[in-house]
Amino acid sequence: MSGNTFGQIFTVTTCGESHGKALACIIDNCPPGVEISEEMIQKDLDRRRPGSTRFGTPRNEADAVRIISGVFEGKTTGTPIGLLIENTSQRSQDYSEIMNSFRPGHADYTYFLKYGIRDYRGGGRASARETAMRVAAGAVAKAVLKDLFGVTVSGCVTAIGKISTDKYDPEVALNNPFNFADGSEATLMVLEQYLDEIRLSQDSCGAVIEARAQHVPVGTGSPVFGRLDATLALAMMSINAVKGVEIGDGFALAAMRGTEARDLMSHNGFSSNHSGGILGGIATGQDIKVRLAFKPTSSIMTPGASVDKNGNDIPNLVTKGRHDPCVGIRAVPIVEAMMALTILDAIMLDRAQCGSVDRESLFHIPV
Ligand SMILES: Cc1cc2nc3c(=O)[nH]c(=O)nc-3n(C[C@H](O)[C@H](O)[C@H](O)COP(=O)(O)O)c2cc1C
Repeated sequence: MSGNTFGQIFTVTTCGESHGKALACIIDNCPPGVEISEEMIQKDLDRRRPGSTRFGTPRNEADAVRIISGVFEGKTTGTPIGLLIENTSQRSQDYSEIMNSFRPGHADYTYFLKYGIRDYRGGGRASARETAMRVAAGAVAKAVLKDLFGVTVSGCVTAIGKISTDKYDPEVALNNPFNFADGSEATLMVLEQYLDEIRLSQDSCGAVIEARAQHVPVGTGSPVFGRLDATLALAMMSINAVKGVEIGDGFALAAMRGTEARDLMSHNGFSSNHSGGILGGIATGQDIKVRLAFKPTSSIMTPGASVDKNGNDIPNLVTKGRHDPCVGIRAVPIVEAMMALTILDAIMLDRAQCGSVDRESLFHIPV
């Protein structure tokens, strides 16, 4: 009901606000015997961490994670895993102007109307600082997926504002400041100029991220309300600033003919993967493909019209504080985390119900 817990078997409950003392999460029902370390979780957190380039917010959080329970001698014990990150770089005075007013495009208004009270400092619980805990929990899920099921998850930015690429290359993305799938010198130069112009004009822009899961066992997922596409869409839409999700070819499928869109089958394999690795809500064994649209950052220095909580118009509200000009750039590990949490939970649900089905003995299309 509260919206702070994700998953049905492999569950994650997060807590914490942007300028509170700490962020924390509890992971429950994690399989035992999987190797987990703070260093391993930290690697993913460092990819999300602000302050590493001038294309993100200058806020410099260490985001140092501590494992406080559920791991003994480097391995999960099957008991709840507690993770903790202390907040160290709060500048709450930056937010005094929005104490009584609502930033257009942000969650100040809706949180206040829902609860009648709000921690305005840094956006409180609506701030994307909360996603640090998802990344940490996602790193645990990734380790379990790889170790027990051979499943891997990756992602990269494929569009920043109007600059896009058809490429998908997570390795290239790891090695440029935009996490962009095309790392050619010409593209990086265009992106740099574009983002500098956005930043200097005190504006912001959106982005698209694509993520894939490989080697997901055929049969993972459920029918009807538990469709894997539906749970993935829920997971992705739960990320701050995400306003669109596509599975496989997504919206482009609407303009295709059936002859183009269906993925033909033979005993040798599938001819294509327009469906993004899911049919009837159940994994085919092909790569699972998801694309997400992030809206432009709403907190920008360019003045905009808003209201205060007494109903007075504020014609020129300026949002101070340290903000990302393009929130999508830092979001790749968040998307990977939500993908990993969703797929692992779906695999565990499938094994709980259908573990007795001997799929190895059934014909299955090689992928
Ligand atoms: C990695 C990441 C960083 C973000 N940083 C900012 C930011 O610096 N300033 C801001 O106004 N919004 C930022 N956002 C977006 C807000 O968290 C989001 O717009 C807000 O919670 C309202 O939710 P909604 O846009 O989904 O409706 C960020 C989002 C992500 C995923």
